[in-house]
Amino acid sequence: MATRKLRVNRSAITHKVRYAVRNPERIVPYVKRTARDSWLRVKYPNHVDYYRAVMASDAARSPEAAVGSRSHERWLALGRMQFDYLREHGLAPHHRMLEIGCGNLRAGWRFIELLEPGHYYGMDISPDILIAAKKTVAERGLQDKLPYLTVTHDLTFDFLPDNHFDVVHAHSVFSHSPITVIDECLAHVGRVLAPGGFFDFTFDRTEGPEHHVLREDFYYRTETLVRLAARHGLEATFMADWEKRPHGQSKIRVTVPKS
Ligand SMILES: C[S@@+](CC[C@H](N)C(=O)[O-])C[C@H]1O[C@@H](n2cnc3c(N)ncnc32)[C@H](O)[C@@H]1O
Repeated sequence: MATRKLRVNRSAITHKVRYAVRNPERIVPYVKRTARDSWLRVKYPNHVDYYRAVMASDAARSPEAAVGSRSHERWLALGRMQFDYLREHGLAPHHRMLEIGCGNLRAGWRFIELLEPGHYYGMDISPDILIAAKKTVAERGLQDKLPYLTVTHDLTFDFLPDNHFDVVHAHSVFSHSPITVIDECLAHVGRVLAPGGFFDFTFDRTEGPEHHVLREDFYYRTETLVRLAARHGLEATFMADWEKRPHGQSKIRVTVPKS
C-alpha cells in the first residue's frame, strides 16, 4: 500500500473536505450515513449492539453490500482471495476452522465446500447476515457439509472447546472493531487454537495516528496489535505476502508460542 495512503487520517476535517471536493457524488450518501449512525449510536451505546444495528440496516438493502462488496463479481473475488491465500498457507480438508465475523459466507462457502462435514464454524454478531449466510449454504448446495453458524455477542468463545481449531480466520472484522473487542478476542483465542494452529485477521493499517470513522471503520498501527497479542502470550507476525494482493487491508497471523 502507498505510504501516503497509510498516513491519511480519515477522521480529520481537512481530509473530509478534500475528499468531498474530489468526490462530490459521495457527499449525500455520507451525510445520510452519518445521520443514521449518529442516531444508532445514541440508541445503542454498546459497540456490538450498535454495529449489529448497522448490519441490520445494511443487510436489509443488500447482504453482499453489507459485507463490503459493490457487486456480485467483487463478492466472489473477495471470497476467492481469502480462500486462495489460506489454501496456499496449508488449509486442508481435515482441518477444523472457526471464522469470526463470517458475514454471508463470501469466503465461507468456499471453506465449507473444501472442509469435511462439520469442520466449519462461522460466528457473527448479526442475526440478519447469518440468515443471508444460511441462504448462501442452500444456494451452493452445501447442506451435507453441516456447517455451524452461530450468533454471538462477544469474542470469549466460552461455549467452544479447548485446543480445537487449526485455523481461525477474521477478514474485515477488526477493521470494524474498537480495541476493546480485539483485546477480548486475543485474550481468548489461544485457548481454542489447536496445537500448531493459527489465527489470521485483517485490519485497516495506518502509519499515522490511530483513528476511526463513524465508529464503523477503525485504523490501527501494526505495532499496537502486535503488542496487544504479546500481552496475551501470543506471537503476532505481519503477513507481508498478503500485501501483494489487491486488497486495502493488511493481515496479521497470531500463534501460540511453543513452551
Ligand atoms: C465487512 S463484513 C466481512 C464478512 C466476512 N468476513 C467476509 O469477508 O465476507 C464484517 C462482518 O463482521 C461482523 N462483525 C463485526 N464485529 C464483529 C464481532 N465483534 N464479532 C463477530 N462478528 C463481527 C459483521 O456483522 C459482519 O458480518
